Amino acid sequence: MKPILYALAAALTIAACTPASVVCGDWEVLPKPKEVREAPQDAPFALHKSTRILYEGDSLETAAILLAAQLSGRTGIHCQVQPGPVPDEKPSILLRIDPSVGTHLSAARQTAAYQIEVNGHQVLLRGSTIEGVLSGSRTLLKALPSTEELNEAGRRAVAAWSAATVHDWPYFGYRGFMLDVSRHFFDAATVKEVIDILAFHNLNVFHWHLTDDQGWRIPIDAFPELTRKGAWRAGSPLPETPEDGEHHDGVPVSGCYTKEEIREVVQYAADRGITVIPEIDLPGHMMAALAAYPELGCTGGPYEVATRYGVLDDVLCAGKESTMGFIKTVLTEVMDLFPSEYIHLGGDECPKVRWEQCPDCQAKIRQLGLKDADGKTKENRLQSWLMDEAGKFLAAHGRKMIAWNDVLCDWGDKVCGTPDPTGTIIAGWMRPSSTRIAAQEGYKAIFCPCGYLYFSAKEFNALPVQEALERVYDMPSLFEGLTEAEADRILGMQACIWAERVADKADLEWRLLPRLAALSELAWCGPFGRDKAGFLNRLNRLETTYNARGWTWRQD
Ligand code: ACM
Ligand code: ZN
Repeated sequence: MKPILYALAAALTIAACTPASVVCGDWEVLPKPKEVREAPQDAPFALHKSTRILYEGDSLETAAILLAAQLSGRTGIHCQVQPGPVPDEKPSILLRIDPSVGTHLSAARQTAAYQIEVNGHQVLLRGSTIEGVLSGSRTLLKALPSTEELNEAGRRAVAAWSAATVHDWPYFGYRGFMLDVSRHFFDAATVKEVIDILAFHNLNVFHWHLTDDQGWRIPIDAFPELTRKGAWRAGSPLPETPEDGEHHDGVPVSGCYTKEEIREVVQYAADRGITVIPEIDLPGHMMAALAAYPELGCTGGPYEVATRYGVLDDVLCAGKESTMGFIKTVLTEVMDLFPSEYIHLGGDECPKVRWEQCPDCQAKIRQLGLKDADGKTKENRLQSWLMDEAGKFLAAHGRKMIAWNDVLCDWGDKVCGTPDPTGTIIAGWMRPSSTRIAAQEGYKAIFCPCGYLYFSAKEFNALPVQEALERVYDMPSLFEGLTEAEADRILGMQACIWAERVADKADLEWRLLPRLAALSELAWCGPFGRDKAGFLNRLNRLETTYNARGWTWRQD
């Protein structure tokens, strides 16, 4: 969309003979705001060196500083930031928390609700919470003309917002992205850059998949070998060779975060309105931990950090008392690092072959009185017991467990598990129906079907970009066959990147962008009344920022 050129505003203070153009952006931003009422009869608000960003209340200082940095990056204008309002008449951008914003909405939606009022003299941004102010800040940023548009208008062009009132809020309260740092280790600086990308797309959850067979990345003081040994593997599978762990490239992969780095990432994300949810994947996908502490496995090992991918038979021994002690100690340190209400405990792809042969696991099954019944084996029930115990431990500390939909059933659509619906949130990855079934069974659930939202999936990355984008934007109805109460249990949507084949940061960004924009618009605007032409137009404008920020994105 072409920016609007205004004639020289008398208010411009530049004492030069060539008049400056005031270039307005527009409100065609992504994700699309709910309501925009433009006031073309009113003057736009032009951004000048003298414009100040005022914030009401200390809690908004960081948001104001961030906005100033972003405006500077986009326009080259450095606004002063100061507490406000101040009793003078200078044009300003005022940030305010106003709990009356979005009171007609559910709590999940209200959190990120905001209103913007722009006139020639003031930009007033009111958010119901800090998250609302941050969401509104991003709309403000995107509603300015891009650097290219400004350059086109001449050397002294001035960026401006056109006069308007904007009311906006998200459809889903949970708008997430998961990154696997086990198969490929991404350092803390890269993780922060990913968080910038998420924030730019109004996502508010970063799900950090920190442990898996191929590497344990989070330090646990009580079990130092987890990162000393478990964060290192001898190589990664060679393509087109048997998946046996022998055919690897011999290139060691290692890396783990310090606790300090993790705290920094959590704070960095919080400053941008993003909650970090850690995942400790258990009781399967535990080879890295078993390599460090072989006594946690059924056979006692020896084990090696996996040099192959896929699903491995060796898992935590559910029968030994020490296993639950290990889980609780690890979770205690995890909760200390991550203040999130939700902690992800995985629960996916846990073969039962070792448990079937293990005297400790079989003794536990007898002790608990577990039986094969209703299409579910006693070993499946042992996993339900273990997940429940871990979930109860989280609950006793005021947290809730997220688990992959495997905890309801192994590789089937039929629900046959028994985790406590009040304490467990299901991440439905196998099929779109996995999330819906969980919601029908009374669970809160997150929609992340691999056929649509696994941005690492080879078959979708092989598609031309337009089709890959449509695969996300045009995904089938999320709520098919659900009652209103069941639909209400779907907290939101999440994309995932499993990093087996991700080469580096640029490759990661290439998988993310621009598909994350499709997720952003679906999760923010909701899945109803999709407007693909409008979405593609808004995306076009977003891509100028991808370029300006140096983010790699797929173009063909
Ligand atoms: C998963 O993809 N195993 C959750
Ligand atoms: Zn065992």
